[in-house]
Amino acid sequence: MTRKRVGVLISGRGSNLQALINACKSRDYPAEIVLVVSNVPQAQGLLRAEAALIPTLTINHKDFPDREAFDATLDAALKEAGVELLCNAGFLRLHTPGFVESWRDRHLNVHPSLLPAFRGLHSHVRAIAAGCKISGCTIHFVRAEMDEGPIVAQAAVPVLADDTFETLALRVLEAEHRLYPHALALVASGAVSVQGERVVDTNDQAQAPLFSPPVP
Ligand code: GRF
Repeated sequence: MTRKRVGVLISGRGSNLQALINACKSRDYPAEIVLVVSNVPQAQGLLRAEAALIPTLTINHKDFPDREAFDATLDAALKEAGVELLCNAGFLRLHTPGFVESWRDRHLNVHPSLLPAFRGLHSHVRAIAAGCKISGCTIHFVRAEMDEGPIVAQAAVPVLADDTFETLALRVLEAEHRLYPHALALVASGAVSVQGERVVDTNDQAQAPLFSPPVP
């Protein structure tokens, strides 16, 4: 089996990166992480990558005059490392349209809501305020608009009556850690693909199946 060469972009804690690192330890997993890039020098996720002996790079956005210059350097580093698939995992920078286009349908993001609900920041606070009974997380292909793009997989969790931001965020984060490795495997193995801005089963062109972790 040839494994797809994956680059992971982070800005902080890196718990989703850790979930991907753990998944890649399986011999039959269809991807390997060949580079982790952080735009924040002290990101905790860099230590996780180093502990797993994965090459890391810090490209500090503060060292660049604009987004174009930052993204050009990032793009060059990813190509230099032979990255085939890119995963944003808590990466807190917007990409330029040119960067997004050059990684089109090879670039995933994790968002802590059931998109298209609650794009942007503070999704858990907004889900609680809206009285949602269910929330969750989404893995989607990246497009130029923030938190937009074909949905690869979603996982739902309940919103409980006494939930705070923290308790809901933790429940969703645990779902993210199960969902992201699953979604990356679907994409890396070629089991799913993008057709007309929807993600379909590559073999029968039907809507890709729902993934949902067990409800606690
Ligand atoms: C996650 O909740 C993810 O959905 C959001 O940022 C958070 C990153 O957490 N985009 P971590 O750095 O992976 O721990």
